[in-house]
Amino acid sequence: MLVLGIETSCDETAVAVVEDGQKILSNVVFSQWVHKKYWGVVPELASREHIKSILPLLKASLEEAKVSLNKIDGIAVTCGPGLVGSLLIGLCVAKGLSYSLKKPLIGINHLEGHIFSNFIEHHELFPPFVCLVVSGGHSTLVHVKDKGDYRVLGRTRDDAPGEAFDKVARILDLEYPGGPSIDRIAQKCESGGVRFPRAFLEEGSFDFSFSGLKTAVAIYVSRLSPQEKEKQRAGIAKGFQEAIVDVLVDKSLKAVLELKVNQIAIAGGVANNSRLRQKLSSEAIKEGLELYIPSPILCTDNAAMIAAAGYFHLHNGENSPLDLNAYPHLSLEQKV
Ligand code: KG4
Ligand code: ZN
Repeated sequence: MLVLGIETSCDETAVAVVEDGQKILSNVVFSQWVHKKYWGVVPELASREHIKSILPLLKASLEEAKVSLNKIDGIAVTCGPGLVGSLLIGLCVAKGLSYSLKKPLIGINHLEGHIFSNFIEHHELFPPFVCLVVSGGHSTLVHVKDKGDYRVLGRTRDDAPGEAFDKVARILDLEYPGGPSIDRIAQKCESGGVRFPRAFLEEGSFDFSFSGLKTAVAIYVSRLSPQEKEKQRAGIAKGFQEAIVDVLVDKSLKAVLELKVNQIAIAGGVANNSRLRQKLSSEAIKEGLELYIPSPILCTDNAAMIAAAGYFHLHNGENSPLDLNAYPHLSLEQKV
């Protein structure tokens, strides 16, 4: 079964063709650079960029896959959560294709797509497991009871970790997006870096909070002279990254132990963070757990993960009506 995936929930326009949910025939992603100078995604600009690039990307994706449109068996599209104007662009294209080709349409939750990025490459991974989905817009710890059956254990109460990375990078005059910049510069610090507070919240809570940490960094930096800031940049980046990673790793491990599962997966743009990968790997070895991490291209937003999730649902006999809407605040436990 060939599924065409379309992803336009934020600032990546992406189209992919995936065979039987696991074999990627093409995975074309356009990351919108237009937001760079604003240090964050401008929703109206994002929608306009999606409009400009979606059809050329569709063409490129089909060409790369060496597949013509009439060979596609189903169309999977992100219908939430995300920016409403951006989601609508992908939805309009997907519905148009579904109607004209007379092929089934399936709306996919973006977070479910991130979870499925693990199934594309790790064929030995079967639920139940715990998945930490960490990106610019999300921080969600999920009990994946089965494919399509999720329980959200915790989520961020304020900033997502990627958002905190992006904001702190700006404070440190690094490049956007901030995650990769901080990851790189932190590696230059040989000590543990500046010690910043960790927000573990109430005992037993799997929720996250990163806005206090971001404020702590801002206050610390505001007290430095420009020369001191320059000198301490790597140490601040490292200390900030350690504080985020400590909390993410601690809560993920606690969830795995509490649920008595022995597999843990991560997903989303922040799953590319080298320190998170390293620390989670060493802790997983210590605890005798299996850790699953997607390749970098499948961690950040892409449409292969949407097609993979789409394959699962279509194969299950599900499909969405042509009046499928965009759901900006769609939760993982909600059905559309
Ligand atoms: O999943 P994604 O592409 O988009 C959203 O759904 O948000 O994630 C993008 C986020 C950005 O905030 C970016 O700074 C962060 O992922 N990111 C990283 C790294 N690479 C990307 N954060 C920390 N370390 C990285 N290496
Ligand atoms: Zn995402």
